Amino acid sequence: MGRPAIVVTRHLPGVPWDDLAKRFRAGDPPPEGTMPREELLARARGASGILSTLADRVDEELMDAAGPSLSVVSNFAVGVNNVDVAGATRRGIRVCNTPDVLTDATADLGFALLLSAARKVSDADRFLREGGWTGWDPFGFLGVPVAGKTLGIVGMGKIGAAVARRSRGFSMKILYRNRRRLPPSAEAELAASYRDLDPLLEESDFVVLCVPLTPETRGLISRERLGRMKRSAVLVNISRGEVVDEEAVATALAEGRLFGAGLDVFEKEPRVHPLLLSAPSAVLLPHLGSATGETREAMGRLATENLLAVLDGRDPPCPVN
Ligand code: DGY
Repeated sequence: MGRPAIVVTRHLPGVPWDDLAKRFRAGDPPPEGTMPREELLARARGASGILSTLADRVDEELMDAAGPSLSVVSNFAVGVNNVDVAGATRRGIRVCNTPDVLTDATADLGFALLLSAARKVSDADRFLREGGWTGWDPFGFLGVPVAGKTLGIVGMGKIGAAVARRSRGFSMKILYRNRRRLPPSAEAELAASYRDLDPLLEESDFVVLCVPLTPETRGLISRERLGRMKRSAVLVNISRGEVVDEEAVATALAEGRLFGAGLDVFEKEPRVHPLLLSAPSAVLLPHLGSATGETREAMGRLATENLLAVLDGRDPPCPVN
């Protein structure tokens, strides 16, 4: 029997392509960008492992293309919404992800978005670069205060908890909503009080979304739910774009029904709703949650370790199924 085949879907930090190519049949080096679908389907044929990114759809079609040899899909992300995990499980394919190593980087970015939207950092930066600054203005770019305000965290997993810990430095009151309420000791450690979603939205000055994308969270922040938020509130999304009705956010910002939004993720990446591009107090980033050099290297190492573990018949460090 020859060496097993693998597909690494793009050039990735922390993934030792040359070493992998020595051990496995890996084909040409992966592209710098997302692998075109047709190429992915063709390369997957007969593969035992796929190291994917969140931009690759790992669905029945791809698993069919790979055939029965496929034993592991190692996703370079904590989110696995791009992978049909139920389908993989039915076929006995292990799905793995990269949690923990990106918790702090993602929480940092959530807080950066919160502060930036609260203080109109993007709008003001653009204004200055475009030559609009003619002198100090007592009425210019007035933001909303952060210290002592109420922070609502939707999704109190590891990233949500890391956001909560950061907010302590700003003496914020923390509310949270989670699929399962935390045990009293965890609530006490985070100084966080549980609320159902609607009261959380009504009471919070800042709402940070940290939920995974699932059928239950798709469209969670609808037009109706946005209407429950304070006019002075800021919405931050560091989870997945599909959790939020983007057009409704843009309209609420334009009509002054929401003060600001910090969005790292979008419904149809890399497309961004055109209304958002012109919305005031919107800080829009190209999906940077885990984007520090150290974090991305660590994600690559972990994704590689997951892949190798399954191919070597060991338990992977981060299995999803
Ligand atoms: C993840 O890991 O799910 C992030 O969105 C990637 O940065």
